[in-house]
Amino acid sequence: MIDRKVMLIAGGSGSIGGAIVREAMIHGWQVAVHGRNEDKVHALVAGLAEEGIAEGFVCDIREDDAAEVLVADVAEQFGRIDAVIDCTATGPEGITGLFADTDPAAYAEFLGLSVGWLQRLAHAAYPFLELEGGTLIAFVSDAGIHAAPRQTLIGAARAGSIGFIRNFAMEAARDGIRAHAISPSFVKGSDSARRMGSERMAKAAKRAGLGLPTAGDIAPLAVFLCGDGARKITGQVISVNGGLNA
Ligand SMILES: NC(=O)c1ccc[n+]([C@@H]2O[C@H](COP(=O)([O-])OP(=O)(O)OC[C@H]3O[C@@H](n4cnc5c(N)ncnc54)[C@H](OP(=O)(O)O)[C@@H]3O)[C@@H](O)[C@H]2O)c1
Repeated sequence: MIDRKVMLIAGGSGSIGGAIVREAMIHGWQVAVHGRNEDKVHALVAGLAEEGIAEGFVCDIREDDAAEVLVADVAEQFGRIDAVIDCTATGPEGITGLFADTDPAAYAEFLGLSVGWLQRLAHAAYPFLELEGGTLIAFVSDAGIHAAPRQTLIGAARAGSIGFIRNFAMEAARDGIRAHAISPSFVKGSDSARRMGSERMAKAAKRAGLGLPTAGDIAPLAVFLCGDGARKITGQVISVNGGLNA
């Protein structure tokens, strides 16, 4: 039990993060579940008590040193960290929508919260991931790959995260660390889908030949990429979008 590998899921209390938590536990991982809302994190962890080992960690990633404190707390609790998955979704209002209507002042903060948070998380986790060949996964968005109206700012931020992951992967491979980006588009049943509204979701569903994925359709890929079966794969950006974009 004590030797089980440890996965830290930042934003693990969210729609996609929660599905990865469950999938990872089915595959024998010990899981550190992070979120911002304490009640939400603790309710999720309490509901998983029968499934294996999961511990909750709460912090707001806008706080100074949030990444360093989170990684140190997880390492202290479990004694190791073998995979880090960033599922935080931090977009403030005003980031998506017609460019002329977006708030220019919100963008620098948003970049810091997405790309900046990812690089600090990676930096803090590096010494643990290199010990036994760990994996870093960043959730991004198809907006960072496929151009579309209303996505100028989110697209730029997600492209930044993708650039970070691909370059990081090339360098960190020498230390046995793998890194990937997983890119959803429209995710059925997620909080973001609810915010988007049924009309936009229905339009997207018509274009997705395989049908839009749920969070449960995305989680197995994340867990696979962190496992031994993916030990020679790194630097990939994989869209899970039901055939919406290729
Ligand atoms: N769902 C989609 O349709 C979709 C599409 C494209 C890309 N993505 C990307 O996939 C990833 C996961 O998305 P999701 O749908 O699972 O998002 P979600 O359900 O909104 O979950 C977001 C997670 O981030 C945490 N979080 C947000 N702000 C935080 C802050 N300031 N400090 C600490 N934690 C914070 C939330 O915690 P609390 O709940 O406690 O606030 C929650 O755990 C994100 O990167 C998202 O951009 C999702």
